[in-house]
Amino acid sequence: MMRLSPSSEGWSGTVTTDWYGDIPMRAVEMKQGVASFLIDNGNPRLPPRQWSARLENGGLHVTGDIWERHVDERVRRGTQADEKRLAFPVAPLPAPATLKPDGLAATPPMGWSSWNRFAAAIDDRTVREIADHLVSSGLRDAGYRFVNIDDGWQGSRSADGTIRPNARFPDMKALTAYVHSKGLKIGIYSSPGPKTCAGFTGSYGHVEQDARTFAEWGFDYLKYDLCSGEGIFRTAAQVKLAYQQMGQALRATGRPIVYSLCQYGRDRVGTWGRDVGGHLWRTTSDIEDKYASMAAIGFDRNGDPANAGPGGWNDPDMLEVGNGGMSEDEYRTHMTLWAMQAAPLMLGNDVRTMSPSTISLLENRGVIAIDQDPLGKQGHRVRKDGDAEIWMKPLADGSSAIALFNRGTEPRDIRLLPEDTGAAPISSLQEVWANAPDNPNRRSWTVPAHGAVLLRVSAR
Ligand code: GLA
Repeated sequence: MMRLSPSSEGWSGTVTTDWYGDIPMRAVEMKQGVASFLIDNGNPRLPPRQWSARLENGGLHVTGDIWERHVDERVRRGTQADEKRLAFPVAPLPAPATLKPDGLAATPPMGWSSWNRFAAAIDDRTVREIADHLVSSGLRDAGYRFVNIDDGWQGSRSADGTIRPNARFPDMKALTAYVHSKGLKIGIYSSPGPKTCAGFTGSYGHVEQDARTFAEWGFDYLKYDLCSGEGIFRTAAQVKLAYQQMGQALRATGRPIVYSLCQYGRDRVGTWGRDVGGHLWRTTSDIEDKYASMAAIGFDRNGDPANAGPGGWNDPDMLEVGNGGMSEDEYRTHMTLWAMQAAPLMLGNDVRTMSPSTISLLENRGVIAIDQDPLGKQGHRVRKDGDAEIWMKPLADGSSAIALFNRGTEPRDIRLLPEDTGAAPISSLQEVWANAPDNPNRRSWTVPAHGAVLLRVSAR
């Protein structure tokens, strides 16, 4: 629906869409029966787009672009009844509040999520098989506990507004019971906007109702993805309230539910993620199964370590290990970086078919222990020397994890300098990936191209 009206200040109007509700026209110009105006969907990375509406054969010819859609429609003049029928119902936001910590996510959440490997082509049977294989592969016992359904499970709402799964998920309660029976937990996905990123039904206008439905179905985790909400919640304050609203709704269910915020790291989310009930918050746009994407995120976009710790974690996005787009050394770098940064470890591969190399990358107990260390300190870069980077993460037992990264395309020797580890002499050195002690006097390692060496260092 398009509304356009004159006033003493000139013309103004809105375009109403299923995804974004009423979008205000900007810079409206009216010339010889043609209205030109700008429309944007609230995404700060997309420029506003030029639209036009011209009178043609007694109707209106509207053209323009929004998100990934090109609009080229011939429309008719509506009646007041049409306007009422097509009106976008505006849902109120709560008053600002600060939620208290609830004790969940004392260490970074670990599990599996459907998105990176399956996108929206996910179904009940695959989720069950993934659960089976998390158990039989040993991944569950290595710590990967959540089985998370990402976008693509949603159907439509029933007459009373209750969200229903689509035909690929015939019985959510039976599915959660099955996953629970395997000693696992299970997660689901929604958006504060009317539509999710893949165009499925979002929670806009149904936030409390959806939280109750997810709890009643037996879910233990919710990823809440801004998606179309960026067109509705246009200020940082509104985005925060939209996340707070679901945070409060989840608390009100009385069921412990880990709450994962996904708004791509905008608005310094790390500084308020906990206040709205979040246990993890994305710090970036989506990862891709390519070294350049993983490295750009993992080295440079993982959020401020000061915001991370027990109960709330920076989330540089889910793992790509095992999806085939990177070499073994690159995937080792991926795991090492995520562990060093106390990142949530959400498997993104098909765990039903894993190579021995993938299993050993994902199940290394020493690497997982660094990620899950109870001190909960996010590691940081201590030194950079061209393509070499040295990172440090303090650990609960007083030792430190030290990672040597080679971002270059040739193998290189990386030396550990006294300032990398602090003043005290090193008393023991553990090569974590090899699970083997190293000579405490050793100071240089040859690190493969795009590779990493991970050490656990004790000093006295
Ligand atoms: C966004 C998120 C992804 C995934 C998709 C689903 O792009 O960032 O992680 O959830 O939506 O549509």
